Amino acid sequence: MFEFTSENLAEFQKILQRYSIKRAALLPALWLVQKQTGFISREAMLYVAGLLDVAPAKVYEVVTFYTMFHQKPVGEYHIQVCRTLSCQLLGSPSITEHLKKRLGIGLGEITTDGRFSLVEVECLGSCGTGPMFQVNDEYHENLTIEKVDKILEELK
Ligand code: FES
Repeated sequence: MFEFTSENLAEFQKILQRYSIKRAALLPALWLVQKQTGFISREAMLYVAGLLDVAPAKVYEVVTFYTMFHQKPVGEYHIQVCRTLSCQLLGSPSITEHLKKRLGIGLGEITTDGRFSLVEVECLGSCGTGPMFQVNDEYHENLTIEKVDKILEELK
């Protein structure tokens, strides 16, 4: 069963004060869940729905819509490769294939040591500098196979 820690519950109460209606706090509440556990489980979705008096389906809808919310644990370094048109035309498929080979995992998987996970996502708003990916909160742009290898080495 999921519950906020006492520290995060206090933080949640502070967040609530910013909004005139409870359900408006849904996104920051979900961020707080992800900060606490690294992902948002079904139990956590139910918990947040209860706190905000919204239907669990609404919470599920939001969590599954935004790729920044993880529904299962991710690696210490979560790599999100943009697969949308500009990046695709600039070579994102070969970047993804290279990452799969180098990391020994498929899309949606996590390395056995828990260090890396890999997914493809839609446009990350950096279309002029593709192909690109995001590792946790950091963008890496104008990628080449050599650049990808260098980034992976630095993260090891
Ligand atoms: S198409 Fe890749 S960032 Fe927009």
